Amino acid sequence: MRRKLIIDCDTGSDDAVAIMLAALHPKLELVGVTTVNGNVPVENCTDNSLRVLDFIGRGDIPVYEGLNRPIARQDFPIPRAIKKSTGIHSKELAIPAPTSKKRQKAAVEYLIETYRAATEEIALVPVGPLSNIAACIAVDPKFVERVPEIVIMGGAHHHGNVTPSAEFNVWADPDASASVFAAGWKRLVCVPLDATHEALVSLEDTAKMTAMGTPAGIASARFIEQRIRGYDANQPMKEKGAAPVHDAVCVAYLVDNSIITTDFRHVAVETVGTLTVGRTVVDTNFRGEHAPNCHFAFHADRRKFVDMLLTTFAKKPA
Ligand code: RIB
Ligand code: CA
Repeated sequence: MRRKLIIDCDTGSDDAVAIMLAALHPKLELVGVTTVNGNVPVENCTDNSLRVLDFIGRGDIPVYEGLNRPIARQDFPIPRAIKKSTGIHSKELAIPAPTSKKRQKAAVEYLIETYRAATEEIALVPVGPLSNIAACIAVDPKFVERVPEIVIMGGAHHHGNVTPSAEFNVWADPDASASVFAAGWKRLVCVPLDATHEALVSLEDTAKMTAMGTPAGIASARFIEQRIRGYDANQPMKEKGAAPVHDAVCVAYLVDNSIITTDFRHVAVETVGTLTVGRTVVDTNFRGEHAPNCHFAFHADRRKFVDMLLTTFAKKPA
């Protein structure tokens, strides 16, 4: 039985790899894709998601467009646009324009209706700002109880990436993030930078992807090499010539839970504070009065992750 999932994304170069892994891995069934404002404006996220699915021959997977801005903060994405681009993402992924079209239904409506009607478990995998998910919670009070597992790429305990204390997805819509982390899910898994920065993909790995000659191998190499150039130029890893592919780690976890190592702790999101807005506050030492609510991944297995990408993307399309 294949595990069903829906990816909510701000496609983006690593979102694109996550979509390909979800669409092509034999143990997964990507039911649908929803898009949200984040790395690039939402209409570009939608177009990029359609491009990726068409490029790998999965234009049958539906794409629904979501919120074009955070649920509350008024100052995003403007500062982001002003900030020097890191080159890690681009408005148009470097593959042909899509032939498929987005579905007309709004992402929030699709998510609510899909979980209301679901007769089998569908994991929800948000890998962008959490605006759509917070909107679902606000519109449908039963949404949370209908989701068997939510696997979020976001947050950070040790260090941020968009500010010293915050990770981009959680920071971009902190009010949505606070609502989502506090919602009381059956099973909340968070894959933060602490884990994704242990699962780096290198130029040696992307050379193998290119050599596969498959659409997914060629595209993933192109997207990840763009990321490596961006990281080497703007936020170099300890290891040059390698970069995290954050979002795909969430999908890999659904195939093999041992890809990440988690601790069950209370996690909440700070929504105020010049230095701290968007920080995931992890109660690692049980100092707070709240019970644990989140399986927070402090580590990831790089070898297992990269091997899964290489094995999955090597398969010739049917
Ligand atoms: O901070 C990393 C996250 O922000 C990833 O999901 C990336 O795609 C961006 O959305
Ligand atoms: Ca993303």
